[in-house]
Amino acid sequence: MGIPRWPVSGTRERELLEEVLTAEQWGGFHAMVGRFEALFAAFQHCKYGVSAMNGTVTLEMALLALGVGPGDEVIVPAISFIATATSVSRVGATPVFIDIDARTFQMDPSRVREAISARTRAIIPVHFGGPMADMDAIMAIATEYGLAVVEDAAHAHGSEWNGRRAGSFGSLSSFSFQNGKVMTAGEGGILLSNDESLADKAREVQNTGRRKGEAFFSHYSLGSNFRITALQCAVLIAQLERLPEQNDLRIRNVKVIREQLADVPGLHFQHVPVAAAVHTNYLLLGWVEGDRGTFHKRLTSEGWPCTPFYPHTLYQNPLYQNQVNCRVMPCPNAEARIGNAFWIPHRALMADSETTLKLAAGLRAAVEP
Ligand SMILES: Cc1ncc(COP(=O)(O)O)c(C=O)c1O
Repeated sequence: MGIPRWPVSGTRERELLEEVLTAEQWGGFHAMVGRFEALFAAFQHCKYGVSAMNGTVTLEMALLALGVGPGDEVIVPAISFIATATSVSRVGATPVFIDIDARTFQMDPSRVREAISARTRAIIPVHFGGPMADMDAIMAIATEYGLAVVEDAAHAHGSEWNGRRAGSFGSLSSFSFQNGKVMTAGEGGILLSNDESLADKAREVQNTGRRKGEAFFSHYSLGSNFRITALQCAVLIAQLERLPEQNDLRIRNVKVIREQLADVPGLHFQHVPVAAAVHTNYLLLGWVEGDRGTFHKRLTSEGWPCTPFYPHTLYQNPLYQNQVNCRVMPCPNAEARIGNAFWIPHRALMADSETTLKLAAGLRAAVEP
């Protein structure tokens, strides 16, 4: 088919892994961990990095570092992976679900304003699919109301908003290195910040309540052990070195696909504002006007990878229907996209030019009446 497999690795991963394997420390205290944290933070235009086991606990660490807890509300988009919302619930706060913009798939800033209450403490924008959410509008609202912003940048390694990288806008920002992400160690996550005291608090949560410069067996707060291993960080340094080239390749291929399909009636792709033009293309997102079931079946029967979107908005999950407290604002756009959207994974956007043209032709054929 010509679509590359994912994940990919090479001699660089093996070389860095060897550095760890020959040491007496394979865990979170090997220098490879600090090395990766510094490299990745700088890559995303941030000063501090606190790595962790995955991009779910990093969101929880962020909220704990900010002191968000019972009685507080946190505004989240109705469309994301469940961790964006459960992080809020797990620290005892209430997620408030708001609608997305129907064209960009991102949290709609005007809906943020409508959802603010006296209990609101924070906003979690998700840079959904790779392009960044409207950070000018979201940061302006956060400043006006004195709210913290935690960027969920699990899709946004190297994504930019007007030349400034994901993660450098919010008080804290969270990235995932899970197997399907654009750089991976199978599992993994990192929290970034430009605020040293928030980064120190997050480190305390991640490292069993220990404090910088204090004795190893002195624990000052109720943390846990969320540390990543040095083996993962070795792999992640190699993955980070390859990322810029892969992001560029996806940008070039997606440009070709979109150009090929610009005139196709009934097929629409995620609108990407000029400010967000540089991004990962983690997902090629779109929606169809016809029958999505037929569209999806036609594509996958030809061997093209395609997912018919999430089966429900976050608040439609049994968890939020039955068990866990939340507040839901009207979300007609999110509910419409559940029924007609799709995504193509990033590995399909890293093919050679012949395969890329075939994928575009496959999309065109799949949407024909
Ligand atoms: C938007 C978003 N947030 C958070 C996560 C959680 O990351 P992890 O799987 O590393 O726990 C993911 C993906 O898995 C995600 O897509």
